[in-house]
Amino acid sequence: MIEELIAWARMECLPAAQRLGLRREAAALAVRHRRLRAQWADHIAQTRAALLASARRAAALPDAPRRAWIMGAGLLQDVPLRELLDLFETIDLVDVCFGPAARAAARRHRGRVRCARQDVSGVLEDLSRDPQRASPPMPADAWCASVNLLSQLPLLPCAALLNSGEAEAAVERYGTAIQQAHIDALSRVPHACLIVEYAQTRATAPDEVLLPGLQDRLFSAGWASGSRWHWPLNPEGEADEPSGRAMQAWWRSGDAGR
Ligand SMILES: C[S@@+](CC[C@H](N)C(=O)[O-])C[C@H]1O[C@@H](n2cnc3c(N)ncnc32)[C@H](O)[C@@H]1O
Repeated sequence: MIEELIAWARMECLPAAQRLGLRREAAALAVRHRRLRAQWADHIAQTRAALLASARRAAALPDAPRRAWIMGAGLLQDVPLRELLDLFETIDLVDVCFGPAARAAARRHRGRVRCARQDVSGVLEDLSRDPQRASPPMPADAWCASVNLLSQLPLLPCAALLNSGEAEAAVERYGTAIQQAHIDALSRVPHACLIVEYAQTRATAPDEVLLPGLQDRLFSAGWASGSRWHWPLNPEGEADEPSGRAMQAWWRSGDAGR
């Protein structure tokens, strides 16, 4: 509890995101990263390797982007910043909340690494906005990466709508629209990487797909599938029934991903 309070105090967060509880979520995640360092080590290594593989593909092309735009990077836990600095001139870490590590990296690499505070859904300030219109464009001259963010995007906006009495079916459609708008925006830039939790795993039950139909939508939008791994999100001792996430990386680079 105290650890979370300290982590919360050290976070910098967009006011609209904080109102919905994202600062608290980011602080809780920072504490879990520390507590579960050993159990999550492979997931972190896999995420970094997938990002690097996609970035290297983009950097090897004749029209290689010189800039990186990495969304969901506010904690800087799963971003291989040192290696990416060898591939790109500038790196934007994009998030609604930033912890001390990301801010220190921006100070250390002043002019090359930036903390870009942006709500990538565009709806946090006003939940009545249409997600497709609200979603901000991503920079077409950058390699754009979305890091373990897609399933998080609708959670707190949808919780707020449910609390305000909106009907469940409408809220579910709204959450799906937020995710679709994010994928559409990412599919419009030439060089991209998407890392997603696509299913919930339990030892005693079949996997539950979290993003139904995503695979077909990505293939038809020209994405290629990359590595897959398992993230023991709630390992033994953390929850009554341990559960995890089936993870998958996707990429597209110029015409190579089509
Ligand atoms: C589950 S974390 C992703 C994993 C993270 N890369 C790490 O280091 O553990 C989700 C991240 O997305 C950010 N986020 C959630 N909603 C967002 C939004 N609408 N716009 C930008 N970032 C958002 C959160 O602040 C958080 O840092």
